[in-house]
Order: sequence, then structure tokens, then C-alpha cells
Amino acid sequence: MIVYYAAMSLDARISGPDHDLSFLKTLDAPNDYETFYVDVDSLILGARTWDFMVRHGSWPYAGKPSWIVTHAKTLAGLPGAEPVEPFAGDVADLVRLIGERGLKRTWLVGGGDLAGQFLAADLLDELILTIAPALIGVGTALVDGAFPPRRFRLAELRPFGEDGVRVRYERR
Ligand SMILES: NC(=O)c1ccc[n+]([C@@H]2O[C@H](COP(=O)([O-])OP(=O)(O)OC[C@H]3O[C@@H](n4cnc5c(N)ncnc54)[C@H](OP(=O)(O)O)[C@@H]3O)[C@@H](O)[C@H]2O)c1
Repeated sequence: MIVYYAAMSLDARISGPDHDLSFLKTLDAPNDYETFYVDVDSLILGARTWDFMVRHGSWPYAGKPSWIVTHAKTLAGLPGAEPVEPFAGDVADLVRLIGERGLKRTWLVGGGDLAGQFLAADLLDELILTIAPALIGVGTALVDGAFPPRRFRLAELRPFGEDGVRVRYERR
């Protein structure tokens, strides 16, 4: 099962220009990703998301097998980020590989480019979105790519802090 858990602006952007995440400061509830993290057994990140984390030198996701989807031959290292494997190619093959390792619930960390490929392959099972109360106009879209409409069922909807929202959708 692939779960895309991300935080976005009201206009569905997960980052402003130059990886600017300052809009997330409009969320005044504590970041609760650790509760979600307990229930996943593996992670997938796109190359640009990985590069951003390497530049910031922090890896809050220790201890679970992680795949970095990249064309790069070598991965820039990040202390604490183990075990990490590079993957290039069709995301359907990656999902198969993860299944063969006996892993059951994978966090698709992002970004939008990679999420678009999962939707094109119809491999996104669940969406957990934290919506920040800000419009930012430009930046990376939650999902970037071409695919037919993918229908989801609303499983949870609640306020998140004073003006934010948490939604959870499951594939119908
Ligand atoms: N707010 C949030 O919750 C959240 C979550 C995640 C990310 N983000 C933000 O989103 C931004 C990054 O998102 P993004 O959409 O620009 O990029 P991304 O999805 O993280 O990475 C895209 C890159 O991954 C590589 N790639 C993608 N598909 C591939 C494939 N099938 N095989 C091999 N390589 C592949 C390509 O890079 P190469 O060709 O260079 O290898 C591609 O340019 C960052 O600013 C990050 O901070 C925000």
C-alpha cells in the first residue's frame, strides 16, 4: 500500500520557489508525523526531495528502508539515513520490489513529480494531506503529471490547529 502523506498550501503546493517551506509556519498545531511514521515500514522519495534534505542535513526518518528515485549514479550521503537505496525506472517495478521484500505500507514522501507517476500508474492507495491556511501562487504542485481522474473516498476530515485542515482519502 502506497500512502502519500504531505503538507500543502490552500492552492495545493508542497513548496514555494527554491524549496521554500515557510508557508507551513501558518500551521499552528504540533507536527504529528511521528504518529503516522509508526505505521509505515518503508519510504519513497524523489531525487529533488532527497537533495533538499541532504542540503538541510537532516533525516527525520531513521530506521526504515527508503528508496530514492533518481537517475543519479551515486547518492549524496545523509548521516542517519540508513538503509537507503537508489531506484531508477518505472514506479510499478519499484512497488513490486518493495512488495517482494514483504513491506506492507510505504510512505510516498514526495515530491509532486514522483506522485504524478504513481497516479499515472494508478498505484496511490491513500492520501493524507495537511492543508496550511495560506495561498502561495507559485511552487511545486502536490501532483505533477498527466493521468485520468483518480477517484478517492473521504475517510477523515478535521481541523488542524486554528485554521489548518487534515484530510485523509482512500482509493475508491
Ligand atoms: N510539503 C511537503 O510535505 C513536501 C513533501 C515532499 C517534498 N516536498 C518538496 O517538493 C519539492 C520536490 O518535489 P519535485 O516534484 O520538484 O521533485 P521530486 O518528485 O522530489 O523529484 C523529481 C526528480 O526525481 C527523479 N525522478 C523522478 N522520477 C524518476 C524515475 N521514474 N526514475 C528515475 N528518476 C526519477 C528526477 O531527477 P533526476 O533526473 O535528477 O534524478 C526528477 O527530476 C522540494 O521542494 C521538497 O521540499 C514537500
